[in-house]
Order: sequence, then structure tokens, then C-alpha cells
Amino acid sequence: MSLTDSDYNFYGRREILDLLNKRVRGLRDGYRQNLALLGSRHVGKTALLKRFISNFEDKDVIVLYLDLESRDFSYFVQQFSKTILYHFLKSQNLPLHEDLKLLCESCRLSIPATTAEIESIQNLLKEGKNNEVYASLLNLSDVFYGETKKSLVLIFDEFQNLENFPLTDVYVELGKRIMTQKNCLYITTSSNQEQARDIFSEKLSLLFGNFEIVEILPFDLATSQGLIDHNLEGIKIGLYLKNFLADFTGGYPLYINMLCQELICLTALYRQEEIYAPIITQAIENLVFNPWGVISRHFELTVSDLRKGKPSLSLCSLLVALSEGKHRIVDAAQYLNLKPTGVTQRINNLLEADVVEKNGNYYHIKDKLFRYWIKYVYQRRVKAIDLEPGRGRKSFKEEINRCVNEFQMVARKDLSLRIMDLLHKFDEEDFELGGRRYKLNAFKDVSQLKLRLGAGNFLDALLASSSEGQWLIVLKKDPILDHDLSSLAEEIKKLSPRPGRCVLISLSGLDESAKVRALQEKWWIWNEAQVNTLMHLYDEPYLIK
Ligand SMILES: Nc1ncnc2c1ncn2[C@@H]1O[C@H](COP(=O)(O)OP(=O)(O)OP(=O)(O)O)[C@@H](O)[C@H]1O
Ligand SMILES: [Mg+2]
Repeated sequence: MSLTDSDYNFYGRREILDLLNKRVRGLRDGYRQNLALLGSRHVGKTALLKRFISNFEDKDVIVLYLDLESRDFSYFVQQFSKTILYHFLKSQNLPLHEDLKLLCESCRLSIPATTAEIESIQNLLKEGKNNEVYASLLNLSDVFYGETKKSLVLIFDEFQNLENFPLTDVYVELGKRIMTQKNCLYITTSSNQEQARDIFSEKLSLLFGNFEIVEILPFDLATSQGLIDHNLEGIKIGLYLKNFLADFTGGYPLYINMLCQELICLTALYRQEEIYAPIITQAIENLVFNPWGVISRHFELTVSDLRKGKPSLSLCSLLVALSEGKHRIVDAAQYLNLKPTGVTQRINNLLEADVVEKNGNYYHIKDKLFRYWIKYVYQRRVKAIDLEPGRGRKSFKEEINRCVNEFQMVARKDLSLRIMDLLHKFDEEDFELGGRRYKLNAFKDVSQLKLRLGAGNFLDALLASSSEGQWLIVLKKDPILDHDLSSLAEEIKKLSPRPGRCVLISLSGLDESAKVRALQEKWWIWNEAQVNTLMHLYDEPYLIK
């Protein structure tokens, strides 16, 4: 058994699984809400769907899972036809087959119309009438429901690949069916979020409101810690090192699983009962540095995919610039000795490939571990920095040790110092956080202060000054309550000069009336996720509560 096998080692994602189950109940109750699960590559979309399917128990609903990644049209047709018959037989506790002809024979008596439709689809396919095949296939759920009163949940994993099929109006046909078929719930996924959103807003525009978009994000720190504990099954590991792993992997369960698996092997090899920093460095070296380490191979493939059909190393040198913190086009252009227009075009290629994300005028490599690899492994390789054999390995180890030590130092800092460091990084960026745009001033001076909210009750705060005015940043780990804000408003009035902007940073949220109050006062609210987005964008470790 392997930790990377998500059938056996699935963890977390409770909220989304609950949502999927709720939408299936809705389908049965006559309220159908289709879903689109969008998330980066390898974040865990397929694992989530597989877990949903394996726990699914409802004899009146049949779930058809269709993987559209690198498949051709004929596979799609066969898989669609086979799964519907297979799951019907399964729901009736009848003997199962994998061959389509045998499946048709077994189903002919109980569901003659569906079977006949599938056989006619096979004939149309042989005649090359692909558009008709596609229309009939999408119509199957109606025929099947008419005969069995069983609804279908149709899952299209990586649905944007439908476009690669030899069909004329792939979305027009799909759109028409989705609108009319109330007994079929569509669940689609996509790793290419930009492309998927374009499809929903342009090609399936009529249906936009009909698809609920759910973002599948990497694990947050608490869930990553949970997965590490779950994987290590009792092997001891200190909290800082565990948090380091959670941060280093950017919360991708795939990387967490791979690193944990390597750590388990190494602790057994060295007969250790606890994981210490040197073992972590060794595991990272084995997986990320060694050319045949799985994570290293995986990133090699990502890079070689990016280079396909593109001249020279251009995209990769831009990735190096981004990994070195050149997040704006002008900065990257200067670093690469190129004109900004040249960089823009390459950046667009990286955005299309979903390797880079954009926030305001700021570009960032999405996957944190990939960024480390580009910075500490790939860059050295392409620039041939290490002429001495073994030098590269030694410097990599030093870099990782430095990362572990720095992480431990940063993680020990209290909230106000962490936010102070963050504010010093602001440089007139225009960022979007949680659906709102924020203009971030370049602060010259940031100082700590305590705001008195009543007898013995203080709030930590920071005063940050820039040429555009002063900000007051109020910090609280516990929830911010309405009565905190009444006293805060009084305290702000006493400050001279009066800050032009007040930001509430609350790691545990605000109560409802405090939220209303903050909105009335036009104070900004940043929660843990939003602060961590900023930490990510500025290449700082995540905040640990
Ligand atoms: N919830 C989870 N619990 C444990 N491991 C997980 C979980 N989700 C994903 N993984 C791990 O990550 C790997 C990749 O996940 P998965 O294939 O589901 O990602 P994906 O988003 O579908 O990627 P792709 O874009 O390649 O289709 C899984 O094989 C598994 O090892
Ligand atoms: Mg997948």
C-alpha cells in the first residue's frame, strides 16, 4: 500500500463531500444544482470524486464517472455506455460484465429502450456520425430515467477536453441538454481554471447560473498537519518541523504523502523513533534534488511540457525570474534583460498553462514546492553554477537547512512582528483578496502600539506610515466582538493624526454585529486566509495560529 494511493489514504475535504451529497439529495428532491470543481493540477479533484463515489449509497441514483483527460471520443462513448449499464446491473445485484456486448445482453430485458439506444449509438459511431452519437449519448439519461426512474449524476473530470473531440458544437449541444434534463446532475472538474471560467461565461453562458463553482484549494495548515499525523501514524515529529512540512509543500496532499512516505522509510533505515531536521533534509534531497527523485521527475516533466513547441528556454528563464522574487513584468524584464513586451507574452503562456497566477500587476508561481525546485535545483542546473562535482548537492542541503531554520525562527515570532514584516514588503501593489481589491501603500515606518479598550483590556495594533497617509492595523487572534469595536472607535478618535485607513486582522473572524459595524465604519477586515494569501504572494511562510 502506498500513501499516494488516495483510495486507501484519503483525508479531509469534509465540507466539499458534504456539499456533493447535498446536491445529490437536491436532485432527488427536484432541485438540481450542477457543480463545477475548479482547482490547480494535482490538488486532489479526482481523489475527492473517487471518495465521493466509493462512499455513495443510493439505489435510485447512478453515478457515472468519466475521465476526459487525454482520452479520445471513442473511449468517451464506450465508457459512457458501459458505465451506465454496469451500474444499473450493480444496483439490481445482477452479475456484472466489462464487455459492452455482454452488458447489453444482460440489460436487454430490464431496460430495453436504454439498451437499444446504446446499440444504435454503437452503429452511429461505426458510421462516423459523431455529432449524432454525441447528441444521443447526452440524451441517454432521459431514456434511462424514463425506464428506471433512476437519476444520473454525470461526472466529467477535466471537462474542457470535450473540445478536443471531433464534434461541431460541443457546448451548444451540452448546454441544450443541461437546460432540459432535470433528472441529471452534472459535476464537472477542471485544472485549467481560466479556460473553464471562459467556457462557463461564454460558451455555456446561458447556464452560468446553473453551475455552482467550487474552488478546490490546497489544504490549509491545520488540515496539512492532520494529514501528516495521519500518514506518520505515531512516529514523533516536533510541531515546528510538522508546520515546516505543511508550509514547504504548500498544502498539496500529493507532496505531503510523498514526503511522509520517504520519512517513514528513512526513520526505519536509521532506526529513529522521532523525525528530526536532518531526516527532513535528507527526504527532501532524495525526492526534490536527486534527478530520479519522484518530485524532481514530476517537475522535470512540467518544465518539458512548458517547453514543448516554444523557442529555447524562454519560459523557464522567466520562471527563474519569478522564483527569485521578480513578480512584476518590469522587474522580470530587467532581470532577464528583455523588453517588457517580450515578458508579457511569456507570462501569458505561463498563465494559460496554469503554472503562474496573477494578482493585480503581480505574477507568482502557484505551486510553492515547484518554486523552490526552480530556485534551488533547476536554476543551478541550467546556469551550470556548480562546476565542482557534489557542490550542487551540498549547496542544496545548505539551502534546505537554512529554510528549516528560518522557518522555525519566523514561526516563533508573534503575530504583530509577522504582520510588521509583511507591511514592510508592501510596495504599492493592487491586490485582490477574497473578491475585493486593496491598494497597498509602501510603508516607510511601522510601529507597535497597544489600544486600551477598557480596564485591563488591550488590543495589539500597528501604525504604518507612508507618503499617502497612515494606516492603523488592529490584530487579534481571538474573535473580534462588537463591543471591542465600540471601544476601538473611541480610541481611534483620540489618535492624532487620525489614521486614514483602519484594517482589522482577525485570525478567528468577527461576530456578525462586529462585521456590520466594521463595514459601516469602512474598516477593512482581513481574515487568516487573506493574510496567508499575502504571505504567499510575498514568499513568506504561512501564519501559524
Ligand atoms: N484528500 C486527499 N487525501 C489524501 N491524499 C490526497 C487527497 N487528495 C489528493 N491526494 C493525493 O494527491 C494525489 C493527486 O490527487 P488528484 O489526482 O486527485 O489531483 P487532481 O486535482 O485530480 O490532479 P490532476 O489535475 O492531475 O487531474 C492523489 O493521488 C493523492 O496521493
Ligand atoms: Mg484529476
